[in-house]
Amino acid sequence: MLVSLKTALAVVLLALIGATNAQQGAYYDSNRHLWYNTSGSSFSTGLVIGNGRMGAMVFGSAFDKVILNEASVWNDLFEDRTNPGSLAAFPKARDMLIDGNYTQAGQLVLRDMSSIPTTSRWFSVTNDLLLDFGHAEGSISQYERWLDTIKGNTGLNYHYNGVKYTREYIANFPTGVIAIRLTASEPGALSVNVTLDRSKGILGKHASTENNTVTLDVGGDGSDAVPFRAAVRAKLDGGSISTTSNSGLRIIGATTVDLFYDAETAFQWPSESLYKNEVQKKLQNAVSRGFPFIKDEAIEDHSSLTTRVELNLGPASTNAKLPTDYRIDSYRENQGADVGFITLAFNFGRHLLVSSSRNTGGPGLGVPANLQGIWNDRYNPPWGSKYTVNINTEMNYWLAEVTNLPDTLRPLWDLLWRSHDKGNSVAKKMYNCPGYVSHHNLDLWGDSTPHDNGTQWSMWPSSSLWLTQHAMEHYRFTGDRDFLKNTAWPLFKDAATFYDCYLFEFEGYLSTGPSISPENAFYIPSGSPDAGMQAAIDIGPTMDNSLLYDLYTNIIESSEALGIDLTKDPVLSKVKNNRSKLRPAAIGSKGQILEYRKEYGEPEPMHRHISHLWDLYPGSRMTPAINQTLANAARRSLELRLAAGGAHTGWSRIWTAACFARLLDGNQTLYHIESLLKEHPMKNMLQAISREGVFQIDSNFGLVAAVSESLVQSHAGVVNLLPALGGRLAAGSVKGLVARGGFVVSMSWKDGKLLEAQITSTRGGKLAMKVANGQNFKIDGADVDDVTTTAGRTYNVTL
Ligand SMILES: *[C@@H]1O[C@H](CO)[C@@H](O)[C@H](O)[C@H]1NC(C)=O
Ligand SMILES: *[C@@H]1O[C@H](CO)[C@@H](O)[C@H](O)[C@H]1NC(C)=O
Ligand SMILES: *[C@@H]1O[C@H](CO)[C@@H](O)[C@H](O)[C@H]1NC(C)=O
Ligand SMILES: *[C@@H]1O[C@H](CO)[C@@H](O)[C@H](O)[C@H]1NC(C)=O
Ligand SMILES: *[C@@H]1O[C@H](CO)[C@@H](O)[C@H](O)[C@H]1NC(C)=O
Ligand SMILES: *[C@@H]1O[C@H](CO)[C@@H](O)[C@H](O)[C@H]1NC(C)=O
Ligand SMILES: *[C@@H]1O[C@H](CO)[C@@H](O)[C@H](O)[C@H]1NC(C)=O
Ligand SMILES: *[C@@H]1O[C@H](CO)[C@@H](O)[C@H](O)[C@H]1NC(C)=O
Repeated sequence: MLVSLKTALAVVLLALIGATNAQQGAYYDSNRHLWYNTSGSSFSTGLVIGNGRMGAMVFGSAFDKVILNEASVWNDLFEDRTNPGSLAAFPKARDMLIDGNYTQAGQLVLRDMSSIPTTSRWFSVTNDLLLDFGHAEGSISQYERWLDTIKGNTGLNYHYNGVKYTREYIANFPTGVIAIRLTASEPGALSVNVTLDRSKGILGKHASTENNTVTLDVGGDGSDAVPFRAAVRAKLDGGSISTTSNSGLRIIGATTVDLFYDAETAFQWPSESLYKNEVQKKLQNAVSRGFPFIKDEAIEDHSSLTTRVELNLGPASTNAKLPTDYRIDSYRENQGADVGFITLAFNFGRHLLVSSSRNTGGPGLGVPANLQGIWNDRYNPPWGSKYTVNINTEMNYWLAEVTNLPDTLRPLWDLLWRSHDKGNSVAKKMYNCPGYVSHHNLDLWGDSTPHDNGTQWSMWPSSSLWLTQHAMEHYRFTGDRDFLKNTAWPLFKDAATFYDCYLFEFEGYLSTGPSISPENAFYIPSGSPDAGMQAAIDIGPTMDNSLLYDLYTNIIESSEALGIDLTKDPVLSKVKNNRSKLRPAAIGSKGQILEYRKEYGEPEPMHRHISHLWDLYPGSRMTPAINQTLANAARRSLELRLAAGGAHTGWSRIWTAACFARLLDGNQTLYHIESLLKEHPMKNMLQAISREGVFQIDSNFGLVAAVSESLVQSHAGVVNLLPALGGRLAAGSVKGLVARGGFVVSMSWKDGKLLEAQITSTRGGKLAMKVANGQNFKIDGADVDDVTTTAGRTYNVTL
């Protein structure tokens, strides 16, 4: 691991935190630390850390509450929800749509194709850890707490009765535990009651002074949880320990107390004894290694990922020194003047992904970041905190390749494979087709049947297409042929096998249907029954055509990379020809991209989804580099959505920003990034779906992708530096962004112009370049646009 000088310096500075109270907040780096002068008290104020599998939200109050989540604690085991009526209804619904009987088709789909029950499994809170120090909240002083987005830890200190109390919270990935150190500045001044709390489904809870452990066993009816064991173990320096009447631990007169927590579930382990043993094993291991080791190991691990990219967007403004909650307000009031706040949000987004998505399961058992990442305080959270795969889960991973965090992707591939295995039977039972299919939501188990029961969301048989795009992009960024061959290719092949059977020819084009343009609706056109009423289910929405084109392109590209002869395969041999039979994007009367096969009237012109612009971002066929006509129409579509009040959720706002980056419009990109950061961050920097709305993590992640997209683009075979730099970001630097082809980019700029860039080739190959869309530049002093690179060499780009 390379620790930069800056990181090393920060280590020294952080060691000083709390050593003096000369000036509150003086030690914090406004690009990397969140900090506060008051404790948290609710979900919007707790600070979050995680080891990829377990997340902790720390309130840090005098009576502390830590909300704990293990990624596989979902409410129940797998359930096959396939509607037995599907098979008969599918061709009928299709015929109804061909006849223009939209309402009838919609009703039939809901009745006979929606799953029974309509909802899949949902994510559920694991338990709380309660730490009662007996300190009256009103009598503590000099309170300060912080979170380090680079190291991934959080902590606090305050004074009470002349003693300084300090707490530090660590999420350790390699050893697999959450660890907490509690200390008092005076020997013997630390007393604390430790309990694990859950209000549902407790099968057993007890405390023991044999192993200084509180053990909680959960499961069964009404638990909203797959069976699991959670436990916390204490290690004391001084003092005494006993058990309490409510099965907690009572520690008196200690100076330092270390706590280690683990939870293991019936999802991760095939038997009760195995998951119980694993808790014992992990805690024993953690205790014997000790807190200092667990802490160093965790920080080294987290930093080894987070320090791969270093962003600097300019000098810190005075407001950047404020406690983070005040800084958030000031950012809104001062219209985004504090550009360093974008850097903090960027670093925080990467901290969140490293904390909520690591390769922690056994084979196939990785659990990706869900709608709330891994931080949830409810037994049935909003939208079940599932995998909404018609934008949200995909957005969670947009940042992974470009900001060099491929280590976070294994859980996504694992979920895709679970969906593949479940989706095999869904394809057969619903459509009588081979291959696999998935609809608009997945759960922990990969349930791929339709979810919910509404014409605007449930019937979308295309999510496997969007998800497999991530597998292709992984290859383009990393060049990992083993991955392409063993993980991605079989998914591509089985997805194509499904569509080969499922697609039908309509008006001369290979089409999907019944399907939707995610979550949008249209007015039934005149000439059809119920003309003027709303409908959502149709044949061949634009997004489906974009996604199918992408899959077929990916199959052609991978077959070339893997040396596979497509003509030998009964299904894949058709791909090239059938790709040209997909309906091309069409332009409507307002100059916009049509969302459907016809220019229907729009009941929701401000709709949050911009599914028909998939080919602008994250796809590329509507970008100026590839098709200027389509790019102009895509811009028009964005403008129409925005004029009607669009981009009103966090994820919609930041998707819009990424689209403007692809349109090479720096000011619009920045405007939408700033709008997101003015409206959506809660006090703890997690972002709400709308101002005052519930937390949904997608926009925290999407922001990182949109900022990256404004600095480096590489979707059109060309590495484009500073393609969409907003006016306000005139000076800055970035290190470590990754471009397709495996080129690692570091650069600095001033007065809105590139100063110099270093591009490291990780695997050789041709590097074609552009700077700010057409500025002249030199590579290693030569006046050329491209160069054949050598792996390991760095190339200098100057103007
Ligand atoms: C916290 O900081 C803000 C901004 O500097 C200040 O106005 C407020 O008084 C501080 N609160 C405490 C409890 O120190
Ligand atoms: C569509 O509706 C028309 C008029 O109600 C009806 O005659 C026709 O049979 C319907 N088509 C299908 C496939 O149900
Ligand atoms: C879904 O909605 C349709 C139409 O309202 C209804 O007939 C059907 O029973 C619903 N499905 C379930 C499982 O509730
Ligand atoms: C801790 O637990 C003990 C025993 O149940 C109880 O008497 C005491 O009040 C508790 N102390 C705090 C600070 O909660
Ligand atoms: C701690 O010890 C108790 C009593 O021996 C035992 O029942 C419990 O399983 C142990 N807990 C853990 C997590 O090892
Ligand atoms: C798909 O391609 C195959 C062979 O290239 C062709 O025979 C078939 O007709 C195509 N399917 C459609 C619906 O056009
Ligand atoms: C751009 O897309 C339009 C619409 O699909 C198509 O007609 C045109 O040929 C494309 N232009 C280029 C240069 O590919
Ligand atoms: C972008 O915004 C800056 C001010 O931040 C302004 O000076 C510049 O003219 C704008 N550029 C365009 C193309 O509108």
